[in-house]
Amino acid sequence: MTAQHTHPVKVIAVTGGKGGVGKTNVSVNLSVALAAMGRRVVLMDADLGLANVDVMLGVKPKKNIVDVLSGECHLADVLVEVSENFSIVPASSGTQEMTALGAHEHAELIHAFSSLDNTLDVLVIDTAAGISDSVVSFVRAAQEVVVVVCDEPTSITDAYGLIKLLHRDYGLTRFRVLANMVRSEHEGRAMFGKLMTVTDRFLDVTLQYLGSIPFDENVRKAVRKQKPLLQLYSSSKAAVALRNFAKKVDEWPVHNSARGHLEFFVEKLVQNH
Ligand SMILES: Nc1ncnc2c1ncn2[C@@H]1O[C@H](COP(=O)(O)OP(=O)(O)OP(=O)(O)O)[C@@H](O)[C@H]1O
Ligand SMILES: [Mg+2]
Repeated sequence: MTAQHTHPVKVIAVTGGKGGVGKTNVSVNLSVALAAMGRRVVLMDADLGLANVDVMLGVKPKKNIVDVLSGECHLADVLVEVSENFSIVPASSGTQEMTALGAHEHAELIHAFSSLDNTLDVLVIDTAAGISDSVVSFVRAAQEVVVVVCDEPTSITDAYGLIKLLHRDYGLTRFRVLANMVRSEHEGRAMFGKLMTVTDRFLDVTLQYLGSIPFDENVRKAVRKQKPLLQLYSSSKAAVALRNFAKKVDEWPVHNSARGHLEFFVEKLVQNH
């Protein structure tokens, strides 16, 4: 089957540079919201060093992406259906990096994702913290990059570092920015403003502000109970904001070119730098 005959899929990487800014919470609840809107969503835990999507959702996968890569099973055996329209690809808690994969594993990965075509509308990728080769591989392969920032001392500088690297070394020019854990909408805008000031000055990139998610104790409570916030506290402040964010994401156009296909994503993913 050629790429033209397959179903276009929106591939969204959620990243941020800094650890603990809320990437996994945003990824999980974005996925839940999109699934509730009728989209078929797969959330891939790309935090290969410290898997935590499964922990946050209270599922205990027997197999993970590494078993697919080693040829032990198919992607279908690894997918865990969390709720209607929503499945996850769990990661292992090892330390394997995408870049450490050999030719055989690359082929397995391409094969694995080709089998997903026509079964999903959105692939959300929750990346690890930092700017390791593994994070960069996933982000540069995605069509949409959501950079999560929060009001912690190094969040803006880490986000800037990530954007700079992706721009300079991989030619990415378009980034979307989501402010998390804000005390006011103004605070979110101000953070975005700070980031824009440095990117405008030093890089030729376009940033789009996606708005903010308020700081909300219910997020932590949901994490402790290992259930999505949107399921447990669906009318909380953060849940309302996350659903609005998901509506925006849903309105982004799907690429109908080759870039809109999973095949393209996987080819980019395994490309050597
Ligand atoms: N909007 C929010 N309000 C309050 N707490 C939040 C919010 N978003 C995230 N948190 C809390 O911040 C912590 C980090 O969140 P999360 O694990 O999603 O971040 P992360 O960026 O994925 O971290 P890592 O880099 O370790 O993967 C969690 O305890 C979570 O409950
Ligand atoms: Mg995380």
